[in-house]
Amino acid sequence: MSEIPSLEALRAMGAAQQPAYPDAAALARVYDELRKRPPLVFAGECDALKRRLAEVAAGRGFLLQGGDCAETFDSVTAGDIRAKLRVLLSMAVVLTYAAQVPVLKVGRIAGQYAKPRSKDTETRDGVTLPAYRGDAVNGFEFTAQARTPDPWRLLEVYNRSSATLNLVRAFVKGGFADLRAVHTWNQDFVRNSNVEAQYEAMAAEIERALAFMVACGVDNEAFRTVDFYASHEGLLLEYEHAMTRIDSRTQQPYSTSGHMIWVGERTRQLDGAHVELLRNLRNPVGVKIGPSASPADVVALAERLDPDREPGRLTIISRMGADKVRDLLGPVIEAVEATGRQVAWVCDPMHGNTFATANGYKTRAFADVVAEVNGFFDVHDELGTWPGGVHVELTGGDVTECVGGADELAEADLAARYETACDPRMNRNQSLELAFTIAERLAKGSRSRVNTVQQYRYEDF
Ligand code: PEP
Ligand code: CO
Repeated sequence: MSEIPSLEALRAMGAAQQPAYPDAAALARVYDELRKRPPLVFAGECDALKRRLAEVAAGRGFLLQGGDCAETFDSVTAGDIRAKLRVLLSMAVVLTYAAQVPVLKVGRIAGQYAKPRSKDTETRDGVTLPAYRGDAVNGFEFTAQARTPDPWRLLEVYNRSSATLNLVRAFVKGGFADLRAVHTWNQDFVRNSNVEAQYEAMAAEIERALAFMVACGVDNEAFRTVDFYASHEGLLLEYEHAMTRIDSRTQQPYSTSGHMIWVGERTRQLDGAHVELLRNLRNPVGVKIGPSASPADVVALAERLDPDREPGRLTIISRMGADKVRDLLGPVIEAVEATGRQVAWVCDPMHGNTFATANGYKTRAFADVVAEVNGFFDVHDELGTWPGGVHVELTGGDVTECVGGADELAEADLAARYETACDPRMNRNQSLELAFTIAERLAKGSRSRVNTVQQYRYEDF
């Protein structure tokens, strides 16, 4: 039986990327308060997600994981949550219908409030203040007061995550996800590119197919509801530790802050506090790996995070960059597969492809995102391994944060609706366009696997 390491033990490991809270007593009070709060997710749900991730790892499903880079407290509104869910569900339908692969849907949602930063401080006009580390830590506004880490924000993370999950659960089980309404999800599209037309055509086909099935007397619960899971980076030790509980049924430790927790590229040190905490959880866990991760590093991380080689336990999320993925990913996959373990291989085509424009915006080019996804598929096709999924940053709105895509957003367009609190996200059109691109790859290149998938009963997934 695994045990939860003490908070003191984790702190003593010198955890990376932690805020410098000026008021330790307040932090302790918040921690005690959080420990009393009910769980946000339940052990049984985490186990169910693990079983589904095992199917992904085995080549019988595809993971769609996505959402904001950083959620903000202000964006916890019905409209924002609905829009995010809608774009993820639309992408999932595209993948399911066009590629005939069961799609596992996991949001970067209901807990994605803390950010690792490459610099501890930010300087503007000669003034230096602590960097913004996400609403979980401090305020975005560039004032000394807003930027001072405030532990009471952790309770707000709990409250907002709880409200978000409540609405998400209601949406996905209460009719919003009904496939027969697939047409209405994107009714408010501005019809200016062929992405909408492509989506409309697919939605019409699905409606006809469903109407046919219903007329034949087939009416399945799977048409009306979907399973949707919540995930975030497990970054802040106090929050994650306070939300880790012993499940009363199994007596095993689970994070109850989200179904799946991942460790980021900057905090994945083998002997670091984050890996130590995640190692002891029974949830499915993920690890991000960037270009500096050697095959041996990744094998060691896999061994540390999944010593029992439990199906569905480990998802490896690579974010190498479009120009490096073809060289760097193959050796990593080969090394891990040579140990005989089965993991879910997932591509994050966002974090290796960020650059700053001349007019000062942090952005990504849609073409680079597509190039990294294509590189990821090519590497897997060459090795005969299964490209298990994608991990993306997106939002439901028509923001202008990433350049390119069907609308051909230019650098000069970024100022129009640049709303992210952290990294640039794909807007709805770019997200759907990416889904169509992936669906094509899945349907074409991975035909033999897809045939296996087709034998799989949808409702079991
Ligand atoms: C992120 O997912 O927002 C992130 C910071 O990613 P990474 O750890 O891969 O840099
Ligand atoms: Co990000």
